[in-house]
Amino acid sequence: MLIVCIAGVIAHAEPIDERMETHWRLASALQSEVIHGNLDVVRQTATRLSSLPTETFGVGLEEPLEHLKEEATALASATTLSDATAGLAKVGAACGVCHLQLSAGPPIRPIRLNRRRPGRAGS
Ligand code: HEC
Repeated sequence: MLIVCIAGVIAHAEPIDERMETHWRLASALQSEVIHGNLDVVRQTATRLSSLPTETFGVGLEEPLEHLKEEATALASATTLSDATAGLAKVGAACGVCHLQLSAGPPIRPIRLNRRRPGRAGS
């Protein structure tokens, strides 16, 4: 299944990393607009996300892309900031489901804790 998915990804014209950059930009914008309370802009941005094609990347990816589209469509009709916040979380989960399924997605950088270790003070 994974091999079929990857083959479909490689075979297609639109590079998936370009699409993911679009996903990332729109998801980041959605987060900022929710934080700023701009419900109208949230709806417009969610409409853009929901309008991206789902058949683009070949066999196996349509379903998770459809799922993302459904969540983005729901977010586009949010009537309160509270609904928009919950809707954005569901959009994020739709991203994560596909990344989990394909073992893909943005690299996660380890968080560096305890920067000030004993003996390293001042460095
Ligand atoms: C249909 C499955 C799928 C969905 C849905 C999906 N992604 Fe991805 N994503 C991938 C795959 C596959 C890769 C790995 C692409 C690569 O290696 O070039 C990826 C990689 C990424 C990357 C890293 C890109 C890079 O150049 O390193 C980011 C950022 C990303 N996705 C963001 C998102 C966001 C945000 C969403 C939701 C709005 C989302 N993705 C939804 C499959 C998906």
